[in-house]
Amino acid sequence: MKIAVLGTGYVGLVTAVGLANTGKHILCVDKDLGKVEKIRQGISPIYEPGLDELLLANLERLEATSDTAGAIKAADVIIIAVGTPFDGKHIDLSYIRQAAGEIGEAIKDSNEFKVVAVKSTVVPGTTMDVVRPIVLEHSGKRDGEVGFAMNPEFLREGNAVEDFLNPDRIVLGVSSEKTGSILQEVYNGYRNSTIIMTNPTTAEMIKYTANSFLALTISFSNEIARICENLPGVDSEEVFNGVIHDKRFSPIVRGERIIPQLATYLRAGIGFGGSCFPKDVKALRAFSEDLQVDGQLLNGLLHINRTQLEHVFKMGLHHFNGGGPLKRIAILGTAFKPNTDDVRESPGVKLAQMAIERGYSVAVQDYIALQNTKELLGSEADYYDDPLEAIREADVVYVTTIWPQYKAVSDEDFEKALQPHAIMVDTRSHFKNRAAKKWRFRIGVGN
Ligand code: UGA
Repeated sequence: MKIAVLGTGYVGLVTAVGLANTGKHILCVDKDLGKVEKIRQGISPIYEPGLDELLLANLERLEATSDTAGAIKAADVIIIAVGTPFDGKHIDLSYIRQAAGEIGEAIKDSNEFKVVAVKSTVVPGTTMDVVRPIVLEHSGKRDGEVGFAMNPEFLREGNAVEDFLNPDRIVLGVSSEKTGSILQEVYNGYRNSTIIMTNPTTAEMIKYTANSFLALTISFSNEIARICENLPGVDSEEVFNGVIHDKRFSPIVRGERIIPQLATYLRAGIGFGGSCFPKDVKALRAFSEDLQVDGQLLNGLLHINRTQLEHVFKMGLHHFNGGGPLKRIAILGTAFKPNTDDVRESPGVKLAQMAIERGYSVAVQDYIALQNTKELLGSEADYYDDPLEAIREADVVYVTTIWPQYKAVSDEDFEKALQPHAIMVDTRSHFKNRAAKKWRFRIGVGN
């Protein structure tokens, strides 16, 4: 079986490499010749832990090419993993439409049954109402002569390889039984995973619902944290801990309590960022509005996320009491989360922008995202690799990304580097297990 993956972005490439790792022959297609060349050399064009190694190990089964038509003709299954640019409200399906048109043209003269699977995150209905008609029109084929599927991805950036190799579930939204069995063969290397077989529109809805639910949990936690901050002696971490120990949340199995990973989303923070949650929740909200669904939750969670940044920023200004004007702000962490160099919708970058707009001098530090940060902030910030250097002249320091390296820095070292009047705002409860300090303020704690 040959599989063509159209688009070698983060989703496409991890999918291609992950499937190659189960012995499948993969054609990685991208119009960007630079990316194609890199993949041929075994170098990943994106940063994702473990991806370079896995790419190299599977190079013999990965054929990178910019010949889209050739790859589609050679493949039994064509996975669409192209980008869906966002205008702030709706996702733009131009690349999806273009890919569908190219697939239709390329399979015109083929008598084989091919499956077209959408992996890009798309609003419900896209696979059957946009992709299918375009493919059929361009190929001149009839319904049933081509298989259609929606196969959403549930990869977390920074963990994508691990998530792909150990999937918790594989959702296959298929247009027919035949399509379903071909896709099951695609994933037959992942025998221990639960396969959820459904129709394409349900699969599309599963993806949006999963991300909106996680984003909702984050915003819910941040609203609860804001309430706790008004209650002296109340720590939201303790509140959430009390909630998590409800056995409907964390069941006791053979005498042992199982704490679900979801509990990690139930904590105060600076709000969610990245390329998925903000975009997916906004796209679902717009979709829901178009359907004239009477609902406020998606709006509400987005509102909390937007205002959380401002809230966190003000927290620093409120606690600063330097006996002089506040001049310099340091931001520790500009990646939207650890183990990635991605700064899209990153709270750390947004906080830096907020500080710059208000005329403060700004120092930013990150372990791998500085280059991408520079592209956004340019000469308006000073850049540091070392957190202790970044905070030296700052009046207020915000810890914005949960890089584990920060935990390796002792409070004594922080204290030595900080000016005597400077304060630190722990926007992620990263140092919740450390003793209270007069210079450190933690989010979600009443005082
Ligand atoms: C998210 C989902 O977790 C994946 O399941 C999904 O496949 C992916 O989107 C996608 O649609 O492609 P990702 O954006 O990589 O993955 O990152 P998460 O680890 O879920 O974090 C998203 C944002 O929420 C980050 O800004 C993170 O810092 C923030 N977050 C996370 C919090 O603010 N608080 C938390 O407790 C957890």
